[in-house]
Amino acid sequence: MPDSLRLLLIVLACVAVALYTWRRLHHRSFWLVVGYPLTAISVRAGWRKVALGCGLTKKRARWAFTLTPGAVVSTGTVKVRRRFRRVAVDTKPWMWLPMPTRHGWRVTLHLLEGQIPDDYSQAAERLAHSWGVHAVRVSSPRPGRVVLAATIRDPLVRVDRLPPSDELLKVTVGRLETGKPWVIDFRTVPHWLNAGATQSGKSNLANALIVGLAPQPVALVGFDLKGGVEFTPYSCRLSALATTRAESVGLLDDLVALMLARMGLCRTAGARNLWQLPPAVRPVPVVVLVDELAELYLMADKSEKDEIAKTSTALLRVAQLGRAFGIYLFCCGQRIGSDLGPGVTALRAQCSGRICHRVNDPETATMTLGDLDPAALVSARAIASETPGVAIVASQDGQWYRARSFHVSEQAAEHSARMYADLAQHWNEITAGVHTNEMNDSDLTELLNA
Ligand SMILES: Nc1ncnc2c1ncn2[C@@H]1O[C@H](COP(=O)(O)OP(=O)(O)O)[C@@H](O)[C@H]1O
Ligand SMILES: [Mg+2]
Repeated sequence: MPDSLRLLLIVLACVAVALYTWRRLHHRSFWLVVGYPLTAISVRAGWRKVALGCGLTKKRARWAFTLTPGAVVSTGTVKVRRRFRRVAVDTKPWMWLPMPTRHGWRVTLHLLEGQIPDDYSQAAERLAHSWGVHAVRVSSPRPGRVVLAATIRDPLVRVDRLPPSDELLKVTVGRLETGKPWVIDFRTVPHWLNAGATQSGKSNLANALIVGLAPQPVALVGFDLKGGVEFTPYSCRLSALATTRAESVGLLDDLVALMLARMGLCRTAGARNLWQLPPAVRPVPVVVLVDELAELYLMADKSEKDEIAKTSTALLRVAQLGRAFGIYLFCCGQRIGSDLGPGVTALRAQCSGRICHRVNDPETATMTLGDLDPAALVSARAIASETPGVAIVASQDGQWYRARSFHVSEQAAEHSARMYADLAQHWNEITAGVHTNEMNDSDLTELLNA
């Protein structure tokens, strides 16, 4: 082998090793300096083919200087002539330069006439396969434009912890696929539904909430009708815990009375909600965690019918009016279907925060995510059982995200609960005097119907 060839091979090998090491040691800078420019060039260069393959092009008539077959001459050959004429060509949507993101890249496109962002959502999977990326998400920041965000690998396979949020009623529970923190903020989205099959990560998320809320001046209340196995270990930080049907009826009664009392308080102070009261007289916010929602509605025998009707009404009232008076719901459940009764459907309508973990049946995903973009449902159904804690999250802005909670073991949650046990206000203290309030149930009904 000539010396120069050997030298070249050695240099190439060194470069490859150096690039590999760089990629392993600092993936982010490697991506920005090496990976992204190459990707951007190949995406731009291959866009016509990809757009054509994914059915995102349109035919347009253009003037072109082309060959046209002319007359057949006597020798039998066809005489061809070049001339200008109108031909139909495939036009691709105009693509801006792809921009690097933490886990891939994002690019803005101009829609062609007659196209809507949904055309791109439907082609998202095709685009992802054509580009060899994990997923492509479509959004439309303004009319006539779509933004495609490609993530190269699933960023949710491993999520690192983020620093805790120190704002009241705001908890960073995980990370979104976009790399941003996944924040549950009860003050913007007061009530949440958290659905998922067993082992999908529902309790993990509740644990994350307990860890986040335990150090805050917030009263925590638990409903755990599966014998209290989930929440009993945290009872030292809970102000109240119901583990039987009778207890849950009593506790819901208290919550409704508490809400009425707070309503009266706000009314006398001329405040529209709890947050307009001066801090000195403002009562403590209450976060209600429900472990298995269906247990509150399922009937073991006929004698429970009245209790269930009461539970259902009380829970719905808390959901309807709790927001203004600092009572927030976080309901977990395997099934949140209408088969549990009309109460659940009404409750669902009040919960604007939706979290759908891996589910067994597509129906639960539909029930939880409602009338969101169908792509959200597809994404929810595609959650693998190897990644518990991955969920589709939707809240008020109408956007949905794929996200994963941080892993929070029961021990960690228990530790937090014990550490902040002295912050747990006694339930009797919180509800002192509320049952003698001058506002009564008929006032409430009137208010709800107003
Ligand atoms: N975000 C997560 N990251 C890693 N492991 C998780 C995560 N969420 C849940 N797990 C694990 O998955 C298993 C099931 O979670 P769990 O919250 O108990 O599910 P569920 O309450 O839905 O039945 C647990 O062993 C838990 O440690
Ligand atoms: Mg559980």
